Amino acid sequence: MTCSPVRLNTFTLLLLLFNTGTEAGLINIFAGAINIAARVVTTLTPSSGIFSYTANKLIGYSLTTVAGIVDKICTIGLRIKRHIWWSEVDLTHIKFQLRTACSKYTYSLRDAWKLLNNSDFHPSRKVVIMVSGWTQTVNHSDTIDKMAKVFNCRGDVNFLALDMDQYLNTFYIWAVQNTDSIALGLAQGLTMLKEVIPIKNIQLIGHSLGAHIVGHAGRYFTERTGEKLPYITGLDPAKTCLAAEQRIGRDDAHRVEILHTNPGVLGIAEPLGHIDLYASFLRPYANGCRDVVCSHMRAVDYYVEFLYPGNKSGFLAKRCASWEHLRAEQCTGKNYAMGNIDFRVRGEIFALDLNPRSPFGRDSLSKYGSRRWDCGLCQR
Ligand SMILES: *[C@@H]1O[C@H](CO)[C@@H](O)[C@H](O)[C@H]1NC(C)=O
Ligand SMILES: *[C@@H]1O[C@H](CO)[C@@H](O)[C@H](O)[C@H]1NC(C)=O
Ligand SMILES: *[C@@H]1O[C@H](CO)[C@@H](O)[C@H](O)[C@H]1NC(C)=O
Repeated sequence: MTCSPVRLNTFTLLLLLFNTGTEAGLINIFAGAINIAARVVTTLTPSSGIFSYTANKLIGYSLTTVAGIVDKICTIGLRIKRHIWWSEVDLTHIKFQLRTACSKYTYSLRDAWKLLNNSDFHPSRKVVIMVSGWTQTVNHSDTIDKMAKVFNCRGDVNFLALDMDQYLNTFYIWAVQNTDSIALGLAQGLTMLKEVIPIKNIQLIGHSLGAHIVGHAGRYFTERTGEKLPYITGLDPAKTCLAAEQRIGRDDAHRVEILHTNPGVLGIAEPLGHIDLYASFLRPYANGCRDVVCSHMRAVDYYVEFLYPGNKSGFLAKRCASWEHLRAEQCTGKNYAMGNIDFRVRGEIFALDLNPRSPFGRDSLSKYGSRRWDCGLCQR
């Protein structure tokens, strides 16, 4: 095994660069990528590109550069599928979970119409469907708990979480591989939901890998029905190992909005939607974060705070004239309240100006006070 020093050094270095000690899971992303790279190394000839990614070449490069290299390794790995065991997604295992403050009700995608028999489901209200990121199962997800709490506090929508069983709670590479099938399942569920809920009432929200799942689901939905979903929100869409065609994009719904908090590292830096909001310009760390996981999760924290009644106007977005202006951190355009941006625009870039700690919105403190912290939790 002549290549093992390369493997070891690259692996160790990536761990040092990326593992900030806050989330063991992060190690797995890169361990996954590097494991696959190692298989590639043992099957490809030394003249192929992988050998240029040696450890000493990585030293001194930025997080963004290293993340890009991991991506390349990963993409090569994904092409060599014959070495890898891929799990098949069984769509009967994917479900909608209706969350109220006090209850969780589970419906198979096929039986979504049964929601109408549930007195906790309000057919006249909008429906928000949330898809979480990697390693989050529906009952053990902070992301879903936070979202459920805020929507139950508002009391103006039916909040559904996509229950993906164990399909994303697995090695990162496998999770990426499953996003397509899960998206197809979600699109089937939406096609059935459409029979009982006007499609204009549905918003999909996804974080990290979940952002690509909701985007792809929108695309499949359009292929099947000829209709477009009205509204998709992507919270820091995942970058690692995702091929271009797997990404959430502007064609996936009438309004696609993207919030970037860890651009170029765990999240995608390039604009993807009709509206792309950048929380800390193109900096790899969100304001107040000292590691990439914190930054990647901030997208959820910002959006949740933004959703609380009264916090909306604290999130001011300034229009950036171009990508170059964003990069130069010179966005001097008009100020918009984040929720009031006109979605008829195409491909606009905005920079948010947020506090380093909660409350993140610049005015959220003064607007808050009147609501109790337990708003949206079960009061029984
Ligand atoms: C829903 O309610 C209708 C009418 O009350 C009933 O006929 C039907 O069996 C119920 N369906 C389910 C799945 O509970
Ligand atoms: C989640 O919790 C609910 C109720 O607490 C339960 O009915 C459901 O089966 C759980 N789902 C999973 C996937 O564990
Ligand atoms: C508004 O945001 C602030 C900051 O996160 C938070 O403390 C407050 O609880 C939010 N409002 C509500 C109703 O929760």
